[in-house]
Amino acid sequence: MSDLEMKQKMIEYFSNAFGDSKDVQVFFAPGRVNLIGEHTDYNGGHVFPCALTIGTYAAARRSECNQIRVYSENFHSTGVITTDRSVITYKKEQGYANYPFGVIATLLEAGYPITQGMDICFYGNIPNSSGLSSSASVEVVTAYATRELFGFELDFVEMSKLCQKSENEFNRVNCGIMDQFAIAMGKKDHAIFLDTATLKYQYAPVKLEQAKIVIACSNKKRGLGDSKYNERRSQCETALSLIQNVKHVTSLGELTIEEFETVKSVLTDDILLRRAKHAVYENQRTIQAVSALKSGDLKLFGELMNASHTSLRDDYEVTGIELDTLVEEAKKQNGVIGSRMTGAGFGGCTVSIVEETEIHAFIENVGKAYQEKIGYAADFYIVSIGCGPYTL
Ligand code: GLA
Repeated sequence: MSDLEMKQKMIEYFSNAFGDSKDVQVFFAPGRVNLIGEHTDYNGGHVFPCALTIGTYAAARRSECNQIRVYSENFHSTGVITTDRSVITYKKEQGYANYPFGVIATLLEAGYPITQGMDICFYGNIPNSSGLSSSASVEVVTAYATRELFGFELDFVEMSKLCQKSENEFNRVNCGIMDQFAIAMGKKDHAIFLDTATLKYQYAPVKLEQAKIVIACSNKKRGLGDSKYNERRSQCETALSLIQNVKHVTSLGELTIEEFETVKSVLTDDILLRRAKHAVYENQRTIQAVSALKSGDLKLFGELMNASHTSLRDDYEVTGIELDTLVEEAKKQNGVIGSRMTGAGFGGCTVSIVEETEIHAFIENVGKAYQEKIGYAADFYIVSIGCGPYTL
């Protein structure tokens, strides 16, 4: 659907939800897929994500009162808060609305002038809980729409930090910066090589010769909040503090493989050892993968993707039978350059690089094998790399 068609559709959704569509503007923020660098962003390591062309639309306008009303076309649910920060709180029963409310609360807290109420209607075309960052997409589109409606200055890096803060503090999910940054800073046909320790970044053109990125959605749902995500994060923090007894270092991402091998004997607990090993090796793999892509060595890039999955499966233990099946079956197919889980894991999606001529067979064969083994179907998407937030 073109932007013009989407805009008309959003205005219609808004009108149905709020009675009329006077003064409405329509905004968009993408989802993201991470090519490599998983569970490194809260360890001061590197990530390599890109924005998608699917994401979240928000039709919005300022209102004359101090109420902020939200409506989701996906969930057919409404929520209302006021612009008084002191009474905005996280409530489980608010469901998805906790994401926009959290962003508004965080903006208010930071002193951004949200001087009136707003009506916002959301519609997203990212499959929910798929590991493609539907929640960060809602956060960023909320911040972007609010900035545009009230006309304050907030650059995209600050916006991503603010949305992460909202997810950490309001929604109590201890996520890193990757998702919000990839979404706010997305660039068409480029992936973002981001050092999460310094927020220095470079755009790298994703040139895959005759191949394309294919996402396979396992349809196994995961909820970041209930998942083992926060547990993994605290295991890494414990491992880091033990390493700090013998080496001056501020994050696992600072360690080279050689340095890690020298100090790892302080990690006597096997689980902590494997978690830290993943964080260190995955960071180095990401650095190597980006230089492989830059020098046109797609084969090496694919091998590093495969190694990333193995490490996430064996050392970080965040895959599960659904994601492992998708990757194992992918690797059996002709024309597959690399395949791995993407996002937090525990369900969600895999990302594969597949030669164009083999994509049809890939989808058919992997889909069939998955259905046979898991008992329900996977969904496949051929990826186009999109840009960051914009006004339609
Ligand atoms: C989720 C989090 C990110 C990142 C990934 C794993 O998507 O939101 O910050 O930690 O998991 O790489």
